[in-house]
Amino acid sequence: MATWSAPGKVFLFGEHAVVYGKPGVAMAIKPRVAVTVRKSRNPPHARSPYIEECFRSTGVQGSVYIRSQLPSSSGLGSSAAVTAATLAAISEEFNLGFTREEVAERAYAIEKKVQKGRASPTDTYVTTFGGIVLITGDSKRRLPPQNFHLIIGNSLVSHSTSKMVEHVAQERQRNPEIINPILDAIGAVTMKAIKSMNKPQQLGQCMDVNHALLDAIGVGHPALSKLVLTARATGAFGAKITGAGGGGCMVALCPKHAKSRVAGAMDATGARSIITTIDTEGIRRE
Ligand code: MEV
Repeated sequence: MATWSAPGKVFLFGEHAVVYGKPGVAMAIKPRVAVTVRKSRNPPHARSPYIEECFRSTGVQGSVYIRSQLPSSSGLGSSAAVTAATLAAISEEFNLGFTREEVAERAYAIEKKVQKGRASPTDTYVTTFGGIVLITGDSKRRLPPQNFHLIIGNSLVSHSTSKMVEHVAQERQRNPEIINPILDAIGAVTMKAIKSMNKPQQLGQCMDVNHALLDAIGVGHPALSKLVLTARATGAFGAKITGAGGGGCMVALCPKHAKSRVAGAMDATGARSIITTIDTEGIRRE
């Protein structure tokens, strides 16, 4: 029997713009998914398609038990975390000797297959390695870890990442002269944010600008706007949509002393808040 866990992720800066080669920054966060794999000749059926594909692609058979503190389908990378943790547990249980790089690559291939072509290499990389990651085109580089106090607000409004990505692509085709400069500006905000990582006030301002630019490309939602305004009004340094938008989650950067106030105010709007911080480990043996 082998148990491995993997963290969730948030985009701090640059979502959507990264699809067009602009820089983006994502961070692994504390809520984790833990997966236990045990060799078995008669594995139970009706598991998630991600787990089915982990077994199919490695050619082994086993039973799986999942415990998750991460809400699914909310843009916090739960499918990537389940996939990476399952692969790592399979690797140990069946002595396959996967390196972290192999887990990240295989997890990405599995996400791509299950999601029929559209998957985020960011999610699988960040959950496997942990920490803060700068993504530029195909390259990924870990940035020095920061002890941010983050509040995630789950709007509980369902959304589809592929639909939101498609929406931006259509808008860009229709109005390239408007959308392209906005994507450039998102990239510029990300670069500015990287230089302000240890200046929370400035970083918060960068988040606010990034949020406005995401609204401008049409991935906002009234529930997310309400959460962002609530977080700012109750003491956050800044707040923005995180991930694909159109529903799902937002994230606020807070001073330590304001965390519970901000989270409470966000919950009072009907959302579900998560107080969290960085996960520096990535996949981990339990
Ligand atoms: C979704 O979490 C982030 C997007 O930028 C898509 C992607 O990076 O694959 C919208």
